[in-house]
Amino acid sequence: MRSFVLAGLLGALVATTAPAKEFVAQESDFRCLRDGSRVEGHTFLLFNKNHHRLRKAIHLAEKGQPGKHYPVGTIVQLFPFEAMVKRGGHFNPDGDGWEFFRLIVSASGTQIAARGGPEVANVIGSCQNCHSNVAPTYDLICEFVIGSSGLGLTDEQVRAAQNADLRCPPAP
Ligand code: HEC
Repeated sequence: MRSFVLAGLLGALVATTAPAKEFVAQESDFRCLRDGSRVEGHTFLLFNKNHHRLRKAIHLAEKGQPGKHYPVGTIVQLFPFEAMVKRGGHFNPDGDGWEFFRLIVSASGTQIAARGGPEVANVIGSCQNCHSNVAPTYDLICEFVIGSSGLGLTDEQVRAAQNADLRCPPAP
């Protein structure tokens, strides 16, 4: 009985000290889109605080092959006010571990308006439902299947929205 209790305690200890496999994004993790990494021929931007994982994410986006998964901690953005974050761990397996965000952006920074799985939506619908329908084999990244026209926009309109990011310092 005693060793059983001990084993339970040890198990709990190991669980709490195990290395974090999950990236729980904070408001300060969202930044001026101009600081993101863009891949030739694409309009979305990539962030990852871990340099090695950022390189991996950029490499995957350059290759654009199906069946690959972005590293935990990767933030993908098209617009300042929406983001997909690879949270990983046990989070949202139906959504490939992505956490969806609606953000409120101002010159003083970013506020999280909504975060989560399939329940997070914008005016056209659930982020996850649409992304998993459009790009199930591209780790839910729609742009590998359809570009800005899929949203009824031109690349110029998307770039204009990116350039209007209020968090960025004024252009010199
Ligand atoms: C009805 C479909 C639909 C809904 C709903 C939707 N999106 Fe998208 N999203 C798209 C399409 C299509 C693109 C590709 C456009 C492009 O990259 O130029 C896209 C692009 C993106 C990108 C850039 C990476 C990629 O997948 O190409 C992000 C990040 C993103 N959306 C996040 C969100 C978030 C967060 C929500 C919810 C708040 C959301 N989207 C809701 C269809 C949708």
